Amino acid sequence: MDMQPIPARSGNHNMENYKQTYENFQWDDAKQHFTWNETGRVNAAYEAIDRHAENPDKKDQPALIYSAPDRKETLSFLDLSRKSNQFANVLKKHHIEKGDRVFLFMPRSPEFYAAFFGILKVGAIAGPLFEAFMEQAVRDRLEDSEATMLITTPDLLERVPADDLPHLKQIVLVGGEAPGNYISYEEEMKASSESFDVEWVDLEDGMLLHYTSGSTGKPKGVYHVHNAMIQHYQTGKWVLDLKEGDVYWCTADPGWVTGTSYGIFAPWLNGVTNVIRGGRFSPDDWYGTIAAHDVSVWYSAPTAFRKLLSAGKDAAGKHDLSSLRHVLSVGEPLNPEVVTWGLSAFDLRIHDTWWMTETGGMLICNYPAMDIRPGSMGKPFPGIEAAIVDNEGNELPDNQMGNLAIKEGWPSMMRAVWNNPGKYESYFLNGWYVSGDSAYKDEDGYFWFQGRLDDVINTSGERVGPFEVESKLIEHEAVAEAGVIGKPDPERGEIIKAFITLRDGYEQSDELLEEIRQFVKKGLSAHAAPREIEIKDTIPKTRSGKIMRRLLKSWELGLPTGDTSTLEE
Ligand code: PRX
Repeated sequence: MDMQPIPARSGNHNMENYKQTYENFQWDDAKQHFTWNETGRVNAAYEAIDRHAENPDKKDQPALIYSAPDRKETLSFLDLSRKSNQFANVLKKHHIEKGDRVFLFMPRSPEFYAAFFGILKVGAIAGPLFEAFMEQAVRDRLEDSEATMLITTPDLLERVPADDLPHLKQIVLVGGEAPGNYISYEEEMKASSESFDVEWVDLEDGMLLHYTSGSTGKPKGVYHVHNAMIQHYQTGKWVLDLKEGDVYWCTADPGWVTGTSYGIFAPWLNGVTNVIRGGRFSPDDWYGTIAAHDVSVWYSAPTAFRKLLSAGKDAAGKHDLSSLRHVLSVGEPLNPEVVTWGLSAFDLRIHDTWWMTETGGMLICNYPAMDIRPGSMGKPFPGIEAAIVDNEGNELPDNQMGNLAIKEGWPSMMRAVWNNPGKYESYFLNGWYVSGDSAYKDEDGYFWFQGRLDDVINTSGERVGPFEVESKLIEHEAVAEAGVIGKPDPERGEIIKAFITLRDGYEQSDELLEEIRQFVKKGLSAHAAPREIEIKDTIPKTRSGKIMRRLLKSWELGLPTGDTSTLEE
């Protein structure tokens, strides 16, 4: 679909000054907003919460509006500051220290956010896990990070193989009874002081560990430091366009990077009210959330927009959505169709943003004050140098497809891959961070996403590594070999398709395929379970034994198979 550019509208941004401000911007300018200007020491929890709690004009403003079908609660900046202080005291009491990894495995709730900031306040590193993870996924992450403490709920506890995790010394249970050796969140919070002296850290000290999938091996721990907040703050201000009085809603779970960078840091560093919604997706509930809380800025994902689109005009028509001022998207290509739908459903442009777990913050975006070219991810944020490079790291001319790359050294860039320096190094080429995405840049500087260059699957905006799914599949007694690919899907972007061979003695049947699907779902998570499984006589491999997923994909899509010279006999 070819669409005309959609011009910027007044009302969002300071249109007169923006060009000049953007052009002269340097990352150091953003630092001036924070305490390290005076002290040289920082803590992102202080900057996001306590700073506002100390401000008489801000302290009683709602910081967090929690809305789940069975629970509604509002916490002011002062409330959230006190609760996170209490939790920091609990952590101190249990000897959690600077640099320790403390993981969170629980649904979104006020307790999650109090605990998250408590972790940062003692200088420890927070590791949020997506609540839908099953045992293997939980185990891999706790093992690799050598987390010493986990905060979870009695319901999720059965997915935590605590006995097999020698480093995991303490488990805090939120809600309900805490038997034996477990620490009760509620009991300890009751007995804990509301004041705490924040541990001041260096900008380069660790803050967050987010696990993400690549095309090979287990998920990798992407390590972020306090410095990232500079980027969260500045992109929150200029891309999310957050200002005093805004009510903001980011739909992402904090188990994924969008749910921390833009579900936690950007809104609170900018001092706005943040809506946190629990529960499952439903069009009626989602529109209802916007209407009930007068959400003005909304950050979501193409999959969700496509679902709302198919729910139709009636679903939207029942709710007053007039509070919305600014809508943004991330995680997958934003189809021009969806942009058109946004114009008619909300009378607003949907602003695409591009970034990754590893980049920690937005890099290429459509800001409110620029013209949008539907289908384009936008332009690099001020202070970001992006280019299309070849496989040697040389810049390519306009309109030529290649590796989307970013000049090293923006504030929210990952600082390490946990326990895996080689993997970290492998991202960089000739001074460029190479993203793994292919794209081109047009002559006006707009970037256009083309696809992944590796085998990483993006299903409903969630990143899945084929290796993880293949490894789980072959643990099933009926499966001999497995190859996993992403198959294009109109609603989910891609779905996971598995090709398997069966062990001797097993016959193909619908029951067996469903059992295998459930096996992956129960072992890893629902989003990693293949929606389609096809039985083959053999799985194509190279002579060195690598599964040729590209060939599987060509077969599936009916495309030419290309070079198959490395194919095993
Ligand atoms: O392929 C790109 C896709 O999502 C990948 C990053 O996934 P993840 O680390 O899970 O982070 C998602 C949210 C930051 C990218 O390599 N992706 C992300 N944003 C876009 C996108 N693809 C197309 N358009 C986007 N705006």
